Amino acid sequence: MGMLDGRVIVLTGSGRGIGAATAKLLAAEGASVVVNDLGVALDGTEGNVGPAQELVNEITAAGGSAVANTDDIADYDAAGNLIQQAITEFGKLDVVVNVAGILRDRMIFNLSPEDWQSVLNVHLNGTFNTSKHASVYWREQRNAEAQNRIINFTSVSGQFGAPGQPNYAAAKMGIIGLTYSCANALGRYGVTTNAISPAAATRMVGSIPDERRKEGSTDADAMSPDHVARVVAYIASERSGWLNGQVIGSAGPKVTLYNKPAALQELISVPKWELDELTTQMEKVFKPTVSGTGR
Ligand SMILES: NC(=O)c1ccc[n+]([C@@H]2O[C@H](COP(=O)([O-])OP(=O)(O)OC[C@H]3O[C@@H](n4cnc5c(N)ncnc54)[C@H](O)[C@@H]3O)[C@@H](O)[C@H]2O)c1
Repeated sequence: MGMLDGRVIVLTGSGRGIGAATAKLLAAEGASVVVNDLGVALDGTEGNVGPAQELVNEITAAGGSAVANTDDIADYDAAGNLIQQAITEFGKLDVVVNVAGILRDRMIFNLSPEDWQSVLNVHLNGTFNTSKHASVYWREQRNAEAQNRIINFTSVSGQFGAPGQPNYAAAKMGIIGLTYSCANALGRYGVTTNAISPAAATRMVGSIPDERRKEGSTDADAMSPDHVARVVAYIASERSGWLNGQVIGSAGPKVTLYNKPAALQELISVPKWELDELTTQMEKVFKPTVSGTGR
């Protein structure tokens, strides 16, 4: 008996990296998986649709159940086709894992509108596209007792504001907002929505200069994507229904529950603040709290 026996799971960007490690584990745990991957280079160009089918071959050779899909998840209709393929091939859909991603790292003053938009298109629009089509399907099922899942991928680059990744940081924080919104909206349709903030030794991290690598480790095994795969497998399972609207970190052996934004301090004035009094109070009350976090 696998933890995911009978589950039908779509994973975007799962021909390589974290997605591939995850698809393999989910299939080994009994899920039928749809391996989506456009097969692009790290910057989203130079498509070669091989990785999705190669991974499917590997999974099926090991006795697992998998089909390939090479749709571009940044395209709204293509993402709909991906969701429909799962339902057509396996008769239903239980889980969507939004892993696909690209990088076009530039400082804000060097970032072209095209590099801004292309990163948002894949990460943020791609996550919206599959979530939208899957949620329409789940809403039509009208099964509040279902154990359906949306599992999104965010990043510490967004959570902590990587200076050389304004497009990626914005997209990844947009994904957290989308995760919170879907978590609040879809519970009544039997869907939980959570986000993973991973760190793993893939080609994506290989593109980051050594001194900026997260978690301070370059050990391939210690930072294997297999660690992240286990966290996704648990959340994809029917047991995780208690977890909704959360960001879970997964970096090597460490699993983290992140907090949600909460007010640290509040200042209230009725009637409206006098500007000089607001100035005095913000510097007196807020400044000691934020000092050291600015420039
Ligand atoms: N590796 C890390 O340490 C790390 C850290 C933080 C966040 N992440 C996030 O985790 C996810 C996986 O990253 P990874 O390191 O495995 O990257 P990766 O580059 O190894 O894999 C990403 C895959 O997405 C595919 N892809 C890109 N655009 C696509 C599109 N439009 N449609 C379909 N497939 C597409 C690529 O072909 C590639 O195979 C990404 O969302 C990334 O932002 C990774």
